Amino acid sequence: MHSYEMKPGLLINEGMVDKLITTVCSKLKYQLERFENHYPAACSINGQYPLTVNTDWTTGFWSGMTSLAWKLSGDKFFSEQLVQQVESFRSRLEIRHELDTHDLGFLYSLSCVNAWRFMGNRAAREAALGAADLLTERYLPVAKIIQAWGDLSDPDQQGRMIIDCLMNLPLLYWASKETGNPVYATCARSHARQAMTYLMRSDYSTYHTFYMDVSTGAPVKGVTHQGYANDSSWARGQAWAIYGFALSYRETGDPEFLQAAINTARYFLCHLPEDRICYWDLSLTSPDTPKDSSAAVIAVCGLLELVNFISVVDLERNRFIQEALAITSELFNRYFDDQPGLGGYLKHSVYNMNKGRGVDEYSTWGDYFLFELLSRLKQPLNRYW
Ligand code: GLY
Repeated sequence: MHSYEMKPGLLINEGMVDKLITTVCSKLKYQLERFENHYPAACSINGQYPLTVNTDWTTGFWSGMTSLAWKLSGDKFFSEQLVQQVESFRSRLEIRHELDTHDLGFLYSLSCVNAWRFMGNRAAREAALGAADLLTERYLPVAKIIQAWGDLSDPDQQGRMIIDCLMNLPLLYWASKETGNPVYATCARSHARQAMTYLMRSDYSTYHTFYMDVSTGAPVKGVTHQGYANDSSWARGQAWAIYGFALSYRETGDPEFLQAAINTARYFLCHLPEDRICYWDLSLTSPDTPKDSSAAVIAVCGLLELVNFISVVDLERNRFIQEALAITSELFNRYFDDQPGLGGYLKHSVYNMNKGRGVDEYSTWGDYFLFELLSRLKQPLNRYW
Protein backbone atom coordinates (compact mmCIF):
# COMPACT_ATOMS: atom_id res chain seq x y z
CA MET A 1 0.00 0.00 0.00
CA HIS A 2 1.22 3.50 -0.81
CA SER A 3 2.44 5.25 2.30
CA TYR A 4 0.20 8.33 2.15
CA GLU A 5 -0.42 9.61 5.64
CA MET A 6 -4.10 8.90 6.41
CA LYS A 7 -5.96 11.31 8.62
CA PRO A 8 -8.19 9.69 11.24
CA GLY A 9 -11.76 9.26 10.04
CA LEU A 10 -10.87 8.15 6.52
CA LEU A 11 -12.40 4.81 5.77
CA ILE A 12 -9.56 3.43 3.67
CA ASN A 13 -6.93 0.92 4.70
CA GLU A 14 -4.66 -1.64 3.13
CA GLY A 15 -6.98 -4.57 3.78
CA MET A 16 -9.82 -2.70 2.14
CA VAL A 17 -7.77 -1.85 -0.96
CA ASP A 18 -6.68 -5.49 -1.31
CA LYS A 19 -10.26 -6.68 -0.91
CA LEU A 20 -11.60 -4.23 -3.49
CA ILE A 21 -8.89 -5.22 -5.97
CA THR A 22 -9.83 -8.88 -5.53
CA THR A 23 -13.49 -7.99 -6.02
CA VAL A 24 -12.79 -6.05 -9.23
CA CYS A 25 -10.57 -8.79 -10.66
CA SER A 26 -13.07 -11.58 -10.05
CA LYS A 27 -16.01 -9.54 -11.34
CA LEU A 28 -14.02 -8.57 -14.43
CA LYS A 29 -13.02 -12.18 -15.09
CA TYR A 30 -16.66 -13.28 -14.85
CA GLN A 31 -17.64 -10.57 -17.35
CA LEU A 32 -14.78 -11.20 -19.79
CA GLU A 33 -15.71 -14.89 -19.84
CA ARG A 34 -19.23 -14.03 -20.85
CA PHE A 35 -18.74 -11.03 -23.17
CA GLU A 36 -16.97 -13.16 -25.82
CA ASN A 37 -14.77 -10.40 -27.22
CA HIS A 38 -17.51 -7.78 -27.04
CA TYR A 39 -17.12 -4.54 -25.11
CA PRO A 40 -19.43 -2.80 -22.69
CA ALA A 41 -21.05 0.27 -24.28
CA ALA A 42 -19.87 3.69 -23.09
CA CYS A 43 -22.39 3.74 -20.24
CA SER A 44 -25.06 1.53 -18.77
CA ILE A 45 -28.79 1.82 -19.38
CA ASN A 46 -30.87 1.16 -16.27
CA GLY A 47 -27.79 -0.33 -14.63
CA GLN A 48 -26.95 -2.78 -17.46
CA TYR A 49 -24.19 -2.32 -20.02
CA PRO A 50 -25.32 -3.14 -23.55
CA LEU A 51 -22.56 -5.07 -25.35
CA THR A 52 -20.96 -3.71 -28.52
CA VAL A 53 -18.16 -4.45 -30.93
CA ASN A 54 -15.03 -2.27 -30.77
CA THR A 55 -16.63 0.89 -32.06
CA ASP A 56 -16.95 3.76 -29.57
CA TRP A 57 -14.35 6.10 -28.01
CA THR A 58 -14.53 4.15 -24.75
CA THR A 59 -13.45 0.59 -25.53
CA GLY A 60 -9.87 1.33 -24.43
CA PHE A 61 -11.13 1.61 -20.85
CA TRP A 62 -12.15 -2.06 -20.98
CA SER A 63 -8.63 -2.98 -22.10
CA GLY A 64 -7.24 -0.66 -19.44
CA MET A 65 -9.13 -2.67 -16.83
CA THR A 66 -7.99 -5.94 -18.37
CA SER A 67 -4.35 -4.86 -18.32
CA LEU A 68 -4.52 -3.58 -14.72
CA ALA A 69 -6.18 -6.83 -13.66
CA TRP A 70 -3.28 -8.71 -15.17
CA LYS A 71 -0.68 -6.55 -13.42
CA LEU A 72 -2.50 -6.77 -10.10
CA SER A 73 -3.46 -10.44 -10.09
CA GLY A 74 -0.81 -12.08 -12.28
CA ASP A 75 -3.63 -14.25 -13.69
CA LYS A 76 -2.72 -15.20 -17.28
CA PHE A 77 -6.38 -15.21 -18.20
CA PHE A 78 -6.20 -11.41 -18.35
CA SER A 79 -3.06 -11.27 -20.51
CA GLU A 80 -4.68 -13.72 -22.95
CA GLN A 81 -7.76 -11.51 -23.10
CA LEU A 82 -5.58 -8.46 -23.68
CA VAL A 83 -3.88 -10.15 -26.64
CA GLN A 84 -7.30 -10.72 -28.22
CA GLN A 85 -8.25 -7.12 -27.57
CA VAL A 86 -5.03 -5.91 -29.22
CA GLU A 87 -6.05 -7.79 -32.37
CA SER A 88 -9.40 -6.01 -32.30
CA PHE A 89 -7.70 -2.60 -31.94
CA ARG A 90 -5.23 -3.48 -34.70
CA SER A 91 -8.02 -4.41 -37.07
CA ARG A 92 -10.06 -1.34 -36.10
CA LEU A 93 -7.10 0.82 -37.08
CA GLU A 94 -6.57 -1.06 -40.32
CA ILE A 95 -10.12 -0.34 -41.49
CA ARG A 96 -10.18 3.06 -39.74
CA HIS A 97 -13.47 2.21 -38.09
CA GLU A 98 -14.91 5.26 -36.29
CA LEU A 99 -11.49 6.87 -35.88
CA ASP A 100 -12.26 10.40 -37.12
CA THR A 101 -11.63 11.55 -33.57
CA HIS A 102 -8.98 12.79 -31.17
CA ASP A 103 -9.98 9.93 -28.84
CA LEU A 104 -7.24 7.79 -30.38
CA GLY A 105 -5.28 8.30 -27.16
CA PHE A 106 -8.06 7.05 -24.90
CA LEU A 107 -8.40 4.06 -27.23
CA TYR A 108 -4.80 3.09 -27.95
CA SER A 109 -2.90 4.12 -24.78
CA LEU A 110 -4.84 1.84 -22.47
CA SER A 111 -5.04 -1.07 -24.91
CA CYS A 112 -1.99 -1.19 -27.17
CA VAL A 113 0.58 0.95 -25.33
CA ASN A 114 -0.24 -0.99 -22.16
CA ALA A 115 0.08 -4.30 -24.01
CA TRP A 116 3.48 -3.23 -25.37
CA ARG A 117 4.71 -1.92 -22.03
CA PHE A 118 3.38 -4.78 -19.93
CA MET A 119 3.90 -7.75 -22.27
CA GLY A 120 6.21 -6.59 -25.06
CA ASN A 121 3.50 -7.31 -27.65
CA ARG A 122 4.96 -6.02 -30.96
CA ALA A 123 1.63 -5.95 -32.81
CA ALA A 124 0.36 -3.70 -30.05
CA ARG A 125 3.34 -1.36 -30.48
CA GLU A 126 2.74 -1.11 -34.24
CA ALA A 127 -0.96 -0.41 -33.77
CA ALA A 128 -0.26 2.25 -31.14
CA LEU A 129 2.25 3.95 -33.46
CA GLY A 130 -0.30 3.82 -36.29
CA ALA A 131 -2.85 5.46 -33.98
CA ALA A 132 -0.33 8.16 -33.08
CA ASP A 133 0.23 8.83 -36.81
CA LEU A 134 -3.51 9.19 -37.30
CA LEU A 135 -3.74 11.54 -34.33
CA THR A 136 -1.04 13.81 -35.76
CA GLU A 137 -3.09 14.01 -38.98
CA ARG A 138 -5.65 15.90 -36.89
CA TYR A 139 -3.11 18.53 -35.90
CA LEU A 140 -3.90 21.91 -37.48
CA PRO A 141 -0.57 23.72 -37.85
CA VAL A 142 -1.89 27.30 -38.04
CA ALA A 143 -4.26 26.92 -35.09
CA LYS A 144 -1.67 24.68 -33.35
CA ILE A 145 -4.35 22.35 -32.02
CA ILE A 146 -5.60 18.82 -32.52
CA GLN A 147 -9.16 18.99 -33.82
CA ALA A 148 -11.46 17.02 -31.56
CA TRP A 149 -14.23 15.63 -33.64
CA GLY A 150 -15.29 14.92 -37.18
CA ASP A 151 -13.77 15.37 -40.58
CA LEU A 152 -11.20 18.17 -40.69
CA SER A 153 -13.28 19.98 -43.32
CA ASP A 154 -16.56 19.72 -41.39
CA PRO A 155 -17.60 23.39 -40.88
CA ASP A 156 -19.30 22.61 -37.53
CA GLN A 157 -16.21 20.96 -36.06
CA GLN A 158 -13.37 22.70 -37.84
CA GLY A 159 -10.82 24.23 -35.45
CA ARG A 160 -12.53 22.91 -32.32
CA MET A 161 -10.39 21.64 -29.47
CA ILE A 162 -11.75 20.14 -26.27
CA ILE A 163 -10.35 19.83 -22.78
CA ASP A 164 -10.61 16.01 -22.82
CA CYS A 165 -7.88 15.89 -25.48
CA LEU A 166 -5.20 16.46 -22.85
CA MET A 167 -5.59 12.78 -22.00
CA ASN A 168 -4.95 11.81 -25.62
CA LEU A 169 -1.54 13.50 -25.69
CA PRO A 170 0.39 10.79 -23.78
CA LEU A 171 0.03 8.58 -26.88
CA LEU A 172 1.99 11.21 -28.83
CA TYR A 173 4.64 11.74 -26.16
CA TRP A 174 5.08 7.97 -26.03
CA ALA A 175 5.38 7.70 -29.84
CA SER A 176 8.19 10.27 -29.89
CA LYS A 177 10.14 8.41 -27.23
CA GLU A 178 9.53 5.10 -28.95
CA THR A 179 10.58 6.22 -32.43
CA GLY A 180 12.98 9.09 -31.73
CA ASN A 181 10.83 11.27 -34.00
CA PRO A 182 10.07 14.54 -32.16
CA VAL A 183 7.09 15.46 -34.37
CA TYR A 184 4.50 13.65 -32.23
CA ALA A 185 5.63 15.33 -29.00
CA THR A 186 5.85 18.74 -30.71
CA CYS A 187 2.18 18.48 -31.75
CA ALA A 188 1.21 17.36 -28.25
CA ARG A 189 3.09 20.15 -26.56
CA SER A 190 1.70 22.91 -28.75
CA HIS A 191 -1.82 21.57 -28.36
CA ALA A 192 -1.36 21.54 -24.56
CA ARG A 193 -0.13 25.14 -24.68
CA GLN A 194 -3.18 26.23 -26.69
CA ALA A 195 -5.43 24.38 -24.24
CA MET A 196 -3.73 26.20 -21.37
CA THR A 197 -4.13 29.56 -23.11
CA TYR A 198 -7.70 29.24 -24.34
CA LEU A 199 -9.54 26.35 -22.66
CA MET A 200 -8.35 27.37 -19.19
CA ARG A 201 -9.93 30.67 -18.11
CA SER A 202 -8.25 33.33 -16.00
CA ASP A 203 -9.98 32.00 -12.84
CA TYR A 204 -8.66 28.50 -13.72
CA SER A 205 -12.07 27.07 -14.53
CA THR A 206 -12.26 25.51 -18.00
CA TYR A 207 -14.32 25.65 -21.15
CA HIS A 208 -15.31 22.26 -22.43
CA THR A 209 -14.56 23.23 -26.03
CA PHE A 210 -12.96 26.17 -27.84
CA TYR A 211 -12.90 27.10 -31.53
CA MET A 212 -9.81 28.46 -33.25
CA ASP A 213 -9.73 30.06 -36.70
CA VAL A 214 -7.88 27.48 -38.77
CA SER A 215 -6.66 29.93 -41.38
CA THR A 216 -5.40 32.70 -39.08
CA GLY A 217 -4.85 30.82 -35.80
CA ALA A 218 -6.95 33.45 -33.97
CA PRO A 219 -9.10 32.37 -31.00
CA VAL A 220 -12.83 32.41 -31.83
CA LYS A 221 -15.01 31.34 -28.88
CA GLY A 222 -15.52 28.94 -26.02
CA VAL A 223 -18.63 26.77 -26.18
CA THR A 224 -19.79 23.96 -23.97
CA HIS A 225 -20.87 20.57 -25.22
CA GLN A 226 -21.45 18.51 -22.08
CA GLY A 227 -21.43 21.29 -19.49
CA TYR A 228 -24.28 23.35 -18.06
CA ALA A 229 -23.43 26.61 -19.87
CA ASN A 230 -20.75 28.11 -22.07
CA ASP A 231 -19.29 29.95 -19.08
CA SER A 232 -19.64 27.13 -16.52
CA SER A 233 -17.10 24.46 -15.69
CA TRP A 234 -18.16 20.94 -16.65
CA ALA A 235 -16.88 18.79 -13.78
CA ARG A 236 -15.35 16.05 -15.90
CA GLY A 237 -13.65 18.60 -18.11
CA GLN A 238 -12.05 20.20 -15.05
CA ALA A 239 -10.89 16.75 -13.93
CA TRP A 240 -9.41 16.03 -17.38
CA ALA A 241 -7.55 19.35 -17.05
CA ILE A 242 -5.96 18.47 -13.69
CA TYR A 243 -4.81 15.08 -14.88
CA GLY A 244 -3.95 16.13 -18.43
CA PHE A 245 -1.81 19.15 -17.50
CA ALA A 246 0.02 17.01 -14.92
CA LEU A 247 0.81 14.46 -17.64
CA SER A 248 2.03 17.15 -20.06
CA TYR A 249 4.29 18.40 -17.26
CA ARG A 250 5.59 14.88 -16.67
CA GLU A 251 6.45 14.56 -20.36
CA THR A 252 7.85 18.04 -21.10
CA GLY A 253 9.05 19.47 -17.78
CA ASP A 254 7.40 22.78 -18.77
CA PRO A 255 6.63 24.44 -15.39
CA GLU A 256 3.61 26.25 -16.84
CA PHE A 257 1.86 22.90 -17.27
CA LEU A 258 2.58 22.07 -13.64
CA GLN A 259 1.11 25.40 -12.57
CA ALA A 260 -1.94 24.83 -14.80
CA ALA A 261 -2.52 21.45 -13.14
CA ILE A 262 -2.20 23.01 -9.68
CA ASN A 263 -4.51 25.90 -10.54
CA THR A 264 -7.22 23.72 -12.10
CA ALA A 265 -6.97 21.39 -9.08
CA ARG A 266 -7.47 24.29 -6.69
CA TYR A 267 -10.53 25.40 -8.65
CA PHE A 268 -11.98 21.88 -8.64
CA LEU A 269 -11.46 21.42 -4.90
CA CYS A 270 -13.00 24.81 -4.08
CA HIS A 271 -16.21 23.87 -5.90
CA LEU A 272 -17.15 20.63 -4.17
CA PRO A 273 -20.17 20.01 -1.98
CA GLU A 274 -19.77 18.88 1.61
CA ASP A 275 -19.40 15.17 0.84
CA ARG A 276 -16.58 16.05 -1.65
CA ILE A 277 -18.21 14.29 -4.65
CA CYS A 278 -18.73 16.85 -7.40
CA TYR A 279 -21.98 17.67 -9.09
CA TRP A 280 -21.86 17.07 -12.85
CA ASP A 281 -21.11 20.76 -13.41
CA LEU A 282 -19.09 22.73 -10.86
CA SER A 283 -21.29 25.81 -11.24
CA LEU A 284 -24.32 23.95 -9.85
CA THR A 285 -24.91 23.89 -6.11
CA SER A 286 -28.43 22.64 -5.47
CA PRO A 287 -28.31 19.42 -3.38
CA ASP A 288 -30.63 17.61 -5.79
CA THR A 289 -28.15 18.05 -8.69
CA PRO A 290 -26.85 14.68 -9.96
CA LYS A 291 -23.26 13.90 -9.02
CA ASP A 292 -20.67 12.78 -11.54
CA SER A 293 -18.65 10.19 -9.64
CA SER A 294 -16.55 9.60 -12.76
CA ALA A 295 -15.31 13.20 -12.64
CA ALA A 296 -14.52 12.70 -8.96
CA VAL A 297 -12.41 9.60 -9.56
CA ILE A 298 -10.58 11.12 -12.55
CA ALA A 299 -9.75 14.16 -10.39
CA VAL A 300 -8.39 11.89 -7.64
CA CYS A 301 -6.14 10.02 -10.09
CA GLY A 302 -5.03 13.38 -11.49
CA LEU A 303 -4.24 14.71 -8.01
CA LEU A 304 -2.23 11.59 -7.17
CA GLU A 305 -0.28 12.03 -10.41
CA LEU A 306 0.21 15.74 -9.74
CA VAL A 307 1.60 15.33 -6.23
CA ASN A 308 4.49 13.33 -7.67
CA PHE A 309 5.81 16.64 -9.04
CA ILE A 310 5.27 18.86 -6.01
CA SER A 311 8.00 19.20 -3.42
CA VAL A 312 7.42 17.19 -0.25
CA VAL A 313 7.99 20.35 1.80
CA ASP A 314 5.19 22.21 -0.01
CA LEU A 315 2.12 22.16 2.26
CA GLU A 316 -0.19 22.12 -0.74
CA ARG A 317 1.11 18.70 -1.68
CA ASN A 318 -0.26 17.25 1.54
CA ARG A 319 -3.51 19.19 1.10
CA PHE A 320 -4.00 17.65 -2.36
CA ILE A 321 -3.26 14.18 -0.97
CA GLN A 322 -5.72 14.60 1.91
CA GLU A 323 -8.41 15.93 -0.45
CA ALA A 324 -7.82 13.02 -2.83
CA LEU A 325 -8.09 10.53 0.04
CA ALA A 326 -11.26 12.15 1.39
CA ILE A 327 -12.92 11.80 -2.03
CA THR A 328 -11.56 8.24 -2.28
CA SER A 329 -13.02 7.31 1.10
CA GLU A 330 -16.46 8.53 0.01
CA LEU A 331 -16.21 6.74 -3.35
CA PHE A 332 -15.14 3.43 -1.83
CA ASN A 333 -17.82 3.53 0.81
CA ARG A 334 -20.81 4.87 -1.09
CA TYR A 335 -20.18 4.53 -4.82
CA PHE A 336 -18.35 1.24 -5.23
CA ASP A 337 -20.52 -1.57 -6.57
CA ASP A 338 -19.10 -4.77 -5.11
CA GLN A 339 -21.95 -6.98 -6.30
CA PRO A 340 -20.73 -9.83 -8.52
CA GLY A 341 -22.37 -10.20 -11.90
CA LEU A 342 -22.63 -8.14 -15.03
CA GLY A 343 -23.03 -4.62 -13.63
CA GLY A 344 -20.49 -1.84 -13.42
CA TYR A 345 -18.10 -0.84 -10.66
CA LEU A 346 -18.58 2.87 -9.97
CA LYS A 347 -22.15 3.97 -9.39
CA HIS A 348 -23.69 7.39 -10.11
CA SER A 349 -21.80 8.86 -13.01
CA VAL A 350 -23.15 11.20 -15.67
CA TYR A 351 -22.20 10.83 -19.33
CA ASN A 352 -24.05 13.66 -21.07
CA MET A 353 -26.67 15.52 -19.05
CA ASN A 354 -27.58 17.75 -21.99
CA LYS A 355 -28.62 14.70 -24.00
CA GLY A 356 -30.05 12.85 -20.98
CA ARG A 357 -27.55 10.08 -21.65
CA GLY A 358 -25.98 7.95 -18.93
CA VAL A 359 -27.37 10.01 -16.04
CA ASP A 360 -26.88 8.23 -12.69
CA GLU A 361 -25.44 5.20 -14.49
CA TYR A 362 -22.14 3.35 -14.64
CA SER A 363 -19.64 4.58 -17.20
CA THR A 364 -16.72 2.62 -18.62
CA TRP A 365 -14.28 5.42 -17.79
CA GLY A 366 -15.65 5.72 -14.24
CA ASP A 367 -15.06 1.98 -13.81
CA TYR A 368 -11.56 2.21 -15.31
CA PHE A 369 -10.41 5.15 -13.19
CA LEU A 370 -11.78 3.49 -10.04
CA PHE A 371 -9.53 0.55 -10.84
CA GLU A 372 -6.61 2.87 -11.65
CA LEU A 373 -7.14 4.50 -8.26
CA LEU A 374 -7.03 1.13 -6.50
CA SER A 375 -3.89 0.31 -8.41
CA ARG A 376 -2.35 3.66 -7.45
CA LEU A 377 -3.09 2.96 -3.78
CA LYS A 378 -1.60 -0.53 -4.06
CA GLN A 379 1.25 0.95 -6.10
CA PRO A 380 2.51 -1.82 -8.35
CA LEU A 381 3.08 0.55 -11.29
CA ASN A 382 4.98 3.78 -11.39
CA ARG A 383 3.38 5.01 -14.59
CA TYR A 384 -0.12 5.28 -16.00
CA TRP A 385 -0.92 6.74 -19.42
N1 GLY B 1 -14.44 12.45 -23.56
C1 GLY B 1 -15.85 12.53 -23.44
C2 GLY B 1 -16.31 12.51 -22.02
O1 GLY B 1 -15.57 12.70 -21.11
O2 GLY B 1 -17.50 12.29 -21.81
